[in-house]
Amino acid sequence: MIDFHTHILPHLDDGAKDTATSLYMFQQELSQGVKTVLCTPHYYGKRSPERFLTQRNNAYAHLKERIPQGIDIRLGAEVHFTGINLPNHEEFGKLTIEGTKIILIELPFLGKWSRGLLPALADVIYETGCVPVIAHVERYCEVRKRPNLISELSDMGCFLQVNARAFIEKRDRKFAMALLEHGFVHCIGSDAHDTVIRSVDLLEAKKAVEKAGYAAEWERAQEIMEKLLAGEDFPVPQGKPIRKFFKSYR
Ligand SMILES: [Fe+2]
Repeated sequence: MIDFHTHILPHLDDGAKDTATSLYMFQQELSQGVKTVLCTPHYYGKRSPERFLTQRNNAYAHLKERIPQGIDIRLGAEVHFTGINLPNHEEFGKLTIEGTKIILIELPFLGKWSRGLLPALADVIYETGCVPVIAHVERYCEVRKRPNLISELSDMGCFLQVNARAFIEKRDRKFAMALLEHGFVHCIGSDAHDTVIRSVDLLEAKKAVEKAGYAAEWERAQEIMEKLLAGEDFPVPQGKPIRKFFKSYR
């Protein structure tokens, strides 16, 4: 399995608070059958990309020798995108997942998205040639209210990442399963921040997805992630538009 989104490196953000926590999280990854972990600390645009990358690389260098064998690490970032908070395009391009053009983008959680948000994102994609992956697409209030945004984002060339926890937790489960059913789960990550409350829970999620009858969709996401990490250039797979119907999604 691949864990596409984590806050597993210590001392960088609100993720792993120390080295011991981080190493325990890597053990959790290994014991759940995860072979590739993307380390994606938050980038909010307050530090320069250079400073951020130096801090991230130092955190990894400090830990590297002690990470359990059998895990392939990819360094990256989770880039918060409001349309106005980011460095210029050249700098932005430095925040991709190493060895690829992929950039993990976090959009605003609460409230209505500004009218300029998606055009600004489209502009950055066009200018930089980066391949955007939208982090935990199930978590945005705006998307839950207007699920047609899912098709809009994927038509723009955005791959969509869903958190493993969404397949387990009651408040997100229906929507996450609808995303699977409609073909919009391209990447899956634990978004793990610690060892207990926001821990690595990919295996539990995989079992929940299989039990719900979506084993093939889970495997499809694994294949898409593999291709993305191999640097393959391919269009976002098309999904079937989702509509909100009272409290369910169809
Ligand atoms: Fe995250």
